[in-house]
Amino acid sequence: MIKKEINIRITEVANTEELTAEERELVLASQEMTANAYAPYSGFFVGAAVLLGNGEIVTGSNQENAAYPSGLCAERVAVFAASSRFPGVPMRMVAISTKTSAAEMSHPVAPCGACRQVILEYEELQQKPIRLLLSSETGKTIIVERIRDLLPLAFSGKALRNTRP
Ligand code: THU
Repeated sequence: MIKKEINIRITEVANTEELTAEERELVLASQEMTANAYAPYSGFFVGAAVLLGNGEIVTGSNQENAAYPSGLCAERVAVFAASSRFPGVPMRMVAISTKTSAAEMSHPVAPCGACRQVILEYEELQQKPIRLLLSSETGKTIIVERIRDLLPLAFSGKALRNTRP
């Protein structure tokens, strides 16, 4: 029997002043996108901003629907838009911000499992890490160096390689 431990490294900054100008701009873009969320059912407003290798920033917000599972998270709206508008251009960073209709949230929110899975596919495709900047309303930010760290033992397309006809 072999027991293994999986560790991840994250960086936490108290406010966005500690980020680089490029990171700050991306976080700001994701914060601004929370205003575009269509979230009448949850009252949970999420904004995402993707910085591409060509310098473009592609944004998205969560879009809900009366048929609840038909809605989509901000991260997937942004990342799918980035890949469809700029296919093949690597994604360098994804910033994610949230806002609630209730109290100010001081802790950053991390992407859901389905969004991690989707972002991981692009990270594997481009063979370069996609950094995540997770920011709270107060500006506290958690930086994760690659999405893979948030999805250990992930399912990937590699498993399907020998199954295609
Ligand atoms: N949501 C996101 O947009 N991103 C996440 O990472 C977590 C959840 C959205 C989905 C739904 O519209 C609302 O937040 C509540 O789950």
